[in-house]
Amino acid sequence: MSPLRITRTLPEDATGAALRADVRTGLTATPKSLPPKWFYDARGSELFERITELPEYYPTRAEREILLTRSGEIAEASGARTLVELGSGSSEKTRHLIDALTALEAYVPVDVSESALTQAGQALVAERPGLDVHALIADFTAPLALPETPGPRLVAFLGGTVGNLLPAERAAFLASVRALLAPGDGLLLGTDLVKDEATLVRAYDDAAGVTAAFDKNVLAVVDRELGADFDPDAFDHVAVWDAEREWIEMRLRSRTAQTVKVPALDLAVEFAAGEELRTEISAKFRREGVASELASAGLELTHWWTDSEGRFALSLSTVR
Ligand code: SAH
Ligand code: AVI
Repeated sequence: MSPLRITRTLPEDATGAALRADVRTGLTATPKSLPPKWFYDARGSELFERITELPEYYPTRAEREILLTRSGEIAEASGARTLVELGSGSSEKTRHLIDALTALEAYVPVDVSESALTQAGQALVAERPGLDVHALIADFTAPLALPETPGPRLVAFLGGTVGNLLPAERAAFLASVRALLAPGDGLLLGTDLVKDEATLVRAYDDAAGVTAAFDKNVLAVVDRELGADFDPDAFDHVAVWDAEREWIEMRLRSRTAQTVKVPALDLAVEFAAGEELRTEISAKFRREGVASELASAGLELTHWWTDSEGRFALSLSTVR
């Protein structure tokens, strides 16, 4: 069994410096916001895994169904010897793809969550002894230095995580993925699809309150890392469908007028009663929009698969 290799591509204090910069920018802006990548400390990653099992949260089940039924076709179209997965988390659904990719030699999961990467990586080296697993602790929105592994390469970005990027961030991100690809390589992209508002809002505001706990976890991260005094109970979790921009917004609404101190930034942040802090967008897509965003990044959509209920899509695209 080859050992698990884990590479940290972020400089030692990069995470702390980036968090400080994001918190200062986001909490002094109007309206206030925080980027969603800060949800995923060990507890946030665990809460996300619990979300994937909720009856209301359909995207994981829908994407798993596509992977179960289409991995053979994906493998045939790609012939990949290296699978790079961005925002890999638990790599749970990816196992179907790994099993189908008969020429696969290397798997490179990339994530900011060290706990998720280590757990998933250790399980995979034990389960797939012939596979070279090289995990990268990295931010996929920053330039990525991938290890030298054999081509062709398939870059997978599953779960609909691309929808957590704002449109301008998405365009820059897709262009950076395009730059990682050589002719013959491919991008496998998971996108959640536009559907009725009630289904969408339920998926982001479940009855058991797991999504609310996930949302509030970002406050716990800022408290722990920057010594802030956010009281998660002083905020309500809110999920709103923006029909014009076709995205779900998760927000934390201050229950009262309050001042939150962030000592590491020497900052005091005033919240009015009812004021909202945006913590995530989760964009929903249509086929034409995905094809056109890919084309703008120099990629051509060649395959489009949906689950049996048409809720979620996986697309394969190649360099134009
Ligand atoms: N792909 C998995 C996990 C999705 S959850 C699935 O489909 O179930 C989103 C994952 O992306 C988390 O593991 C989170 O830690 C990671 N992530 C979020 N923002 C990131 C960023 N900027 N760079 C790297 N990983 C990121
Ligand atoms: C990771 N990402 C695709 C999830 C989503 O659905 O946007 C994160 C999430 N937020 C709330 N529930 C799940």
